[in-house]
Amino acid sequence: MPKRVINAISNYYRYYNTNTHGQFQTSIETDKIIDDCRKNIAAFLGASGPAEISIGQNMTTLNFALSNAFARILQKGDEVVITRLDHEANRGPWLSLRPHGITVREVQLLPDGRLDYDDLIRKINENTRLLAIGWASNALGTVNDLVLARKLTYEVGAMMLVDGVHYAPHFPIQVQDIGMDFLLCSSYKFYGPHQGFLYAKPGALDQLPVDRLNTQEQHAPYCIETGTLNHASLAGVNASIAFLASLGKGNGLRERLGSAMKTINKHEQWLAKILYKEIDAMDKFKIIGPDFKGSERAPTISFVHEDLHPVEVCRKLADQNITAWDGHFYARKAIEVLGLAERGGVTRLGISLYNNENDIDRVTEVLKKI
Ligand SMILES: Cc1ncc(COP(=O)(O)O)c(C=O)c1O
Repeated sequence: MPKRVINAISNYYRYYNTNTHGQFQTSIETDKIIDDCRKNIAAFLGASGPAEISIGQNMTTLNFALSNAFARILQKGDEVVITRLDHEANRGPWLSLRPHGITVREVQLLPDGRLDYDDLIRKINENTRLLAIGWASNALGTVNDLVLARKLTYEVGAMMLVDGVHYAPHFPIQVQDIGMDFLLCSSYKFYGPHQGFLYAKPGALDQLPVDRLNTQEQHAPYCIETGTLNHASLAGVNASIAFLASLGKGNGLRERLGSAMKTINKHEQWLAKILYKEIDAMDKFKIIGPDFKGSERAPTISFVHEDLHPVEVCRKLADQNITAWDGHFYARKAIEVLGLAERGGVTRLGISLYNNENDIDRVTEVLKKI
């Protein structure tokens, strides 16, 4: 976490620490922090303005709030489509609609870690009301074809909700290009604190009967925001966006963020391609997930060792101060479908803006020894 983010959070507690809508200075400042946060996230996502950005505890909680609201308006015979590749946070909330008589269809995953688009075409029909799909897989690095997904949902008049949590730190986002109804993301993935955000296209959130008190604002973006927000965390989010913008060029925040994300993407892709090639060349390791040919791919490389359990591989990496995760990372269905659940999932290495060539050399060296 950048120092300025940590400072913004602690300064909020030190100098402001109050509630909203008061007539005194610290409360006026708190209102401004919240307003600025919506503007910053709108600029980061390419939304048209702060009225499209709602704030929540995290992505999962916001998604449950949405699915609970959908449960109130969908009728028997209506269908929701999810995927087998997604993080459970974009499956569980929608699977919870099944007891309400809603059909929830799951798009198949191919052995190479890509979605089966023929199956997506088959699963979306005139009864589909919503497609809930991830943009990038946090387990395999797969980036999904949202242009095709949007075309298919438009054809049947279904809404589209996108889990942008893993895509957001690695690629520039322009929500208006895709035209999704909802996009969820989490600022701890892009150098901020734990905080969830929802982009909702104008009108999309207003038609949902989300849980709310009659004492709060009844319209978007506020209607889904129950209780007191985490003001200190929002001050941190503002600092994380300023940090990202400081890495870019251009006039205005949106342009600087776009330029920064392009630079970050180029850097991470460069390193990820080297790492992919190195691991791919090692006899004992097998990469699980798509290659870098053809479609976009996140700089997240997962693999299995012929003999060793992922826990053992991660332990050996940790012995050399290399932090790698093992398991399913909550994308449990994908790991099950690929037949890896019994053997502890995969080992995952994630590349970020602060990694450099030395990191790749070092991890490659250690993996070769393993
Ligand atoms: C792809 C993806 N979706 C959703 C989530 C859940 O996000 P949150 O922890 O903000 O609920 C994660 C977290 O790792 C994720 O990687």
